[in-house]
Amino acid sequence: MKPILLVHGGAGDISDDRVPGKLNGIKKSLRDGVQLLVNGGSSLDAVEEAVRSMELDDSFNCGYGSVLNINGIVEMDASIMEGKNLNAGCVTLLQNMAHPICVARKVMEKTNHNFIGGEGALKFAHSQNFEVLTQGALVTENAKIALEEFKERQNKGLDTLFSSTELNKKQKRDLGETVGAVAIDGNGNIAVATSTGGITGKLSGRIGDTPILGCGTYADNKIGGVSTTGHGETIMRFNLAQRILQNINHKHVSAQQATEDVCKEMTQRLIGTGGAITIDKEGNIGIYFTSKRMAWGYIKDNQLVYGINKGETFTENL
Ligand code: GLY
Repeated sequence: MKPILLVHGGAGDISDDRVPGKLNGIKKSLRDGVQLLVNGGSSLDAVEEAVRSMELDDSFNCGYGSVLNINGIVEMDASIMEGKNLNAGCVTLLQNMAHPICVARKVMEKTNHNFIGGEGALKFAHSQNFEVLTQGALVTENAKIALEEFKERQNKGLDTLFSSTELNKKQKRDLGETVGAVAIDGNGNIAVATSTGGITGKLSGRIGDTPILGCGTYADNKIGGVSTTGHGETIMRFNLAQRILQNINHKHVSAQQATEDVCKEMTQRLIGTGGAITIDKEGNIGIYFTSKRMAWGYIKDNQLVYGINKGETFTENL
């Protein structure tokens, strides 16, 4: 099996001025992650490293760069899964950690649990020697501005984030922009990692799709792996990741067809937008989004392929 690393940097109505930062971050994430995939490396190490790279980059809504909840606090979600044995680790409502994806991996490898949240997740991370940052260390100026804009729209009656059947155009603008990675290694092992700050102005304690298996993340060597991005309340009701894999498994459609069909069906039925990246067990790739833009990229056969607008693809030699 030829190793492949595929990443996304979030689906949303990304403004033109944010496109270069996203594309540079995608390329860096791929270059960081692929080092761990070549020469017999594991897909698990590669997806963790690719997401870790984006958690350090404030072009993305995860780690440093996370959006703020209604109280101005960063609360992050992440999940990681191995398709070989269906092992997984998930964290939610995590504060003051630079790398939620690494904490999720420790949950998978060092506990008897799959999912830890809030204060418990922070204490667990501390026990695993992760540095606990000071309150506010992850809060960026851009995130503060986005929250102010959210509050202004809310005061004008334009936002009702939690009645997602009536999402208006404005609401669709800010949703998602989660990051994720899917990889298959030389042994055919598939791994998936997804990390997010959630959505601007969310209520304190709100949990999105990202840490939920079958919604934000799923990996099964017998079918494939998927990482999703977009409006969490929509994606979790639709089980977006799992539905894509079940279309591949039962309808015998390609990874691309399944990703496209299921994302379109989700937005047709539930209005909220999103996107997904998929690798099937044969190493075929699927990329699709119903939002205006989604930054994505992959490395295969020493070629770096990436894009952000519909129908647009750039290629570079590694
Ligand atoms: N997809 C990220 C979130 O809604 O939290």
